[in-house]
Amino acid sequence: MGPQRLHLMYFFWLLFLTTTTTTTTANVIRNELITHGADNRLHQVSRLSSSSSSSNVFNVNDFGAKGDGRDDSQAFLKAWQKACSITSATLVVPKNKNYLLKPITFSGPCKSSITLKIYGTIKASTDRSAYNKEYARHWLVFQNVQNLKVEGGGTINGNGKIWWKNSCKINKALPCKGAPTAVTFKKCNNLVVKNIKIQDAQQMHLTFEKCVNVQALNLIVSAPEKSPNTDGIHVTDTQNIQILNSVIGTGDDCISIEDGSQKVQAKNITCGPGHGISIGSLGDDNSKAYVSDVLIDTARLSRTTNGLRIKTWQGGSGMAKNIVFQNVVMNNVKNPIIIDQNYCDKNEQCKEQKSAVQISNVLFKNVKGTSSSDVAITLECSKTHPCQEIKMQNINLVSVNKGAAKALCQNVNLAKIGKILPSCT
Ligand SMILES: *[C@@H]1O[C@H](CO)[C@@H](O)[C@H](O)[C@H]1NC(C)=O
Repeated sequence: MGPQRLHLMYFFWLLFLTTTTTTTTANVIRNELITHGADNRLHQVSRLSSSSSSSNVFNVNDFGAKGDGRDDSQAFLKAWQKACSITSATLVVPKNKNYLLKPITFSGPCKSSITLKIYGTIKASTDRSAYNKEYARHWLVFQNVQNLKVEGGGTINGNGKIWWKNSCKINKALPCKGAPTAVTFKKCNNLVVKNIKIQDAQQMHLTFEKCVNVQALNLIVSAPEKSPNTDGIHVTDTQNIQILNSVIGTGDDCISIEDGSQKVQAKNITCGPGHGISIGSLGDDNSKAYVSDVLIDTARLSRTTNGLRIKTWQGGSGMAKNIVFQNVVMNNVKNPIIIDQNYCDKNEQCKEQKSAVQISNVLFKNVKGTSSSDVAITLECSKTHPCQEIKMQNINLVSVNKGAAKALCQNVNLAKIGKILPSCT
């Protein structure tokens, strides 16, 4: 065998190896060679070396999304179905475009993990008739998806003005009907949501429902102060969730933590305007509620109606326990610290009832700043189920107008550590 034939054999052997060891990408490459011709073979070969992951990257534009202000829902659904059906997919929503979406559900289970990179803007359709039946209360829903990551620095815009105008809280002549939540994650385990801006939701901005293991970080959530019921981040029936490094200013609670939630941590949160950081409301319509192991650590609240709040209805049952609020600075907050076990958000007055959600083991530690009302601390606990093991440590709250503030406390078993201002008498 001459050296030239040896060379040739070696070449074919190499070619054989390359085509068999890259079977996952071979089809893609082959298609590209066919469509683009063989003249840029070198370019293709160089892509080959880094393409085992990029072959799983999809762009919504490739499925017909235009981002030109017309409805892109079908294209997004097709793109999602594709991404959901393969291994480790990344779905890209490109930047500098506005994609208009009707109510839509991105469903799992998917083949494997999935990353949604939102660089551009996703906007809600303002055609309210599109939100019928199952979508009366939802716009974007991610459901039953495991190992989902949503990121990219883009914006999700609920276009909520039309809904706010038609809220009974704004127009008293209209009947009270709920509006859609902008983004709902339901039954999503191992979820990461980061670097996203969510604004002007129809009603709530971001809800985690029946999820386990969630990281929500570097989020910006914003809506006007006067937009009705536009909670920032709502956590319900969810375990093991961390909400970190986020800036939230809306027309309702910055963070609300509802029934069935355990191991909830929120750290480094900037809140305002809005109604503050809230656990509850729990026990409405005589329901049983269970919330435990909540840590709110490092928060700045500015010009909110409440600061740190636990609210329960009379007549409920169950418990809210093991709750820590610490390292919080208040600026002009109406009710900086408030436990309200007679919460009533109905038109008619709520009747006095015997049962209540039991509140126990709550610590308020290192809370300072200013109250816009005279009463900086309200602990209004249930007559029949007084609050147990409430602890205050290093509290310094003053009234913006009057200097010294007041504390109103009833039916509470309270321990004080360090200096407490104002103090329950
Ligand atoms: C707190 O969050 C803000 C963004 O809201 C971020 O800029 C800052 O770095 C975070 N601080 C820490 C200590 O992580």
